[in-house]
Amino acid sequence: YRRLRVALLGAGAVGSQVASLLRQHADELADRAGATLELVGIAVRDLDAKRDVELPHELFTTDAETLIVSADIVIELMGGIEPARTYLLQAINSGADVVTANKALLATHGPEIFEAADQVGAQVYYEAAAAGAIPIIRPLRDSLAGDRVQRIMGIVNGTTNYILDRMDKEGAEFAEVLADAQALGYAEADPTADVEGYDAAQKAAILASLAFHTSVPLDAVHREGITAIDKGMMDAARNAGYVIKLLAVCERLATTDAEGTPAESISVRVYPALVDREHPLASVHGANNAVFVQAEAAGNLMFYGAGAGGVQTASAVLGDVVSAARRHIAGGVGVGESTRANLPVVEIGQVTTRY
Ligand code: HSE
Repeated sequence: YRRLRVALLGAGAVGSQVASLLRQHADELADRAGATLELVGIAVRDLDAKRDVELPHELFTTDAETLIVSADIVIELMGGIEPARTYLLQAINSGADVVTANKALLATHGPEIFEAADQVGAQVYYEAAAAGAIPIIRPLRDSLAGDRVQRIMGIVNGTTNYILDRMDKEGAEFAEVLADAQALGYAEADPTADVEGYDAAQKAAILASLAFHTSVPLDAVHREGITAIDKGMMDAARNAGYVIKLLAVCERLATTDAEGTPAESISVRVYPALVDREHPLASVHGANNAVFVQAEAAGNLMFYGAGAGGVQTASAVLGDVVSAARRHIAGGVGVGESTRANLPVVEIGQVTTRY
């Protein structure tokens, strides 16, 4: 097999599992990719930090830039905007294909990164950036490319689903269960990103951009978190036959333009919604995620599974690494970004629709 050099940036909950699985399943991955995937280094900030899994010390470096320019495939799992953005652009410009799970970066600088990749014929893979282990990026970008997605309703944040689920089942109060979600490793470093809906809004912007073949800026996403939800509201919802879920709703709207001609726009919003207990989304428990997609021809589809967690998310990252390797072997031929439709995004905020 041809040897491909793989560089990893970041060795946190997801990164350390990716490194471990790459080494553990090296032979099998080589067969699937048609190339040997050699992990040549892991760039980290602190060489002595404690890792979730044990990895050879000699793989670690603090010199990300030297590592990046030597790689065929760069996996960015550091999170945050900088230096992740600079490193990804360096990787793209040095001819590597990149794999990232960085939802914050893609939701804010996606167009810049995709354009840089388009210019040099590189590819950006980001299956792990939304809904953890659940395959949803490829289905929206590829499998449904021939259909028209009308609406997505997603539970895309594991931490808040875990909290709301326990409030619903046990009558627990918000503050009691947040600490447990943090201890279980679901929450972001700063859990405000979860409970105030920022994390879900980033994922919603990514999913809506793919579903509607446009570019949805993060600041066009209406966002409300779950911090105002209390036991009384949960009880009232239950008594009326609903459960409260933090939903990311992305939908196509029929509108009219300034001249009154029928036009289309989209609305993307994250808020605690009343979900009918009979709806499939109501049975998504714990830190699981689910993305319910309504498409014109396909009808209703639901993608369900682990939305958070190191090893689970590592599965999606490794799938991307195999895809990147196959594309390298094929001489750089592969998926490109979808055509942009430039649909306007309208801000309609929370609506009273009950799902
Ligand atoms: N904090 C995120 C969640 C992790 O709870 O869903 C996965 O993106």
